[in-house]
Amino acid sequence: MKPMKFITTLLCAAPFCLATLASAAPLSITLPPETAVFKPSTLPGYALAQQKCSVCHSADYINFQPPGLSLAQWTAEAGKMQHVYGAPISDQDVSVIGAYLAVTYGSAKANDADVQAASNPPAAQPVAVTVAKVDAKTLLQNNACLSCHAIDHKVVGPAYHDVAAKYAKDPQALDRVMSSIQHGGSGKWGDVPMPPFAQLSPDDLKSLATFILSQ
Ligand code: HEC
Ligand code: HEC
Repeated sequence: MKPMKFITTLLCAAPFCLATLASAAPLSITLPPETAVFKPSTLPGYALAQQKCSVCHSADYINFQPPGLSLAQWTAEAGKMQHVYGAPISDQDVSVIGAYLAVTYGSAKANDADVQAASNPPAAQPVAVTVAKVDAKTLLQNNACLSCHAIDHKVVGPAYHDVAAKYAKDPQALDRVMSSIQHGGSGKWGDVPMPPFAQLSPDDLKSLATFILSQ
């Protein structure tokens, strides 16, 4: 694999390559085992660092860094592993691990606002939006809505784009459209009736109506 090759190249390109390797074995026997593990912490980055930061080298790389490094410095260090050495970690891992390292080995405090923010990245927001959209599309498919509707042209029922336009200025649009889907009806767009979908949960109705009104 690429990263491993890099380390080998790096070690053996160094002039003291052989000396380092030769002294490595006796040294690791005399060291007390706890120096080669990550310092425990209740922060979520502790488990992540154990999982992801000893893939290529031991925890001593971290243990032997100078004390007092800041959150920014430790985060940059984790980021360097990601960008420069190809550590398989996400941007979110970098910030969560950076916060753990800065508190456990550096100058940061667990209750600093920026440490808390870094330990709990606001992933919920964008994920929730995507999930809602996927859900609505799945619902449209599972309920055969798309056999009578399309987004941008009339099929049997009106285009969702036209429904959104019709309700654009209505402050009760969401309730009305939820109700239209649940109860079905006719006469709003023509003589063909829309069948009721009474089995849909309020959440599903809301998700569908929100999706349709945003077309
Ligand atoms: C893909 C392999 C890989 C992973 C995974 C990895 N590192 Fe490294 N790390 C390296 C390499 C390569 C070096 C520098 C080469 C050397 O000195 O042996 C290094 C060096 C370091 C150093 C010494 C200072 C420096 O910048 O050279 C620290 C501290 C460090 N890593 C921390 C971490 C942390 C924290 C993680 C988890 C986020 C991590 N490493 C994950 C490859 C990796
Ligand atoms: C059998 C065909 C058919 C199916 C299946 C169908 N619709 Fe309709 N839909 C219609 C027709 C026809 C109308 C126009 C009714 C009218 O004129 O009042 C309509 C109207 C609508 C409207 C506009 C209501 C309003 O208040 O203006 C919405 C929103 C809508 N459908 C959503 C859905 C959703 C969501 C589904 C799936 C859960 C669905 N439809 C399944 C035929 C269908």
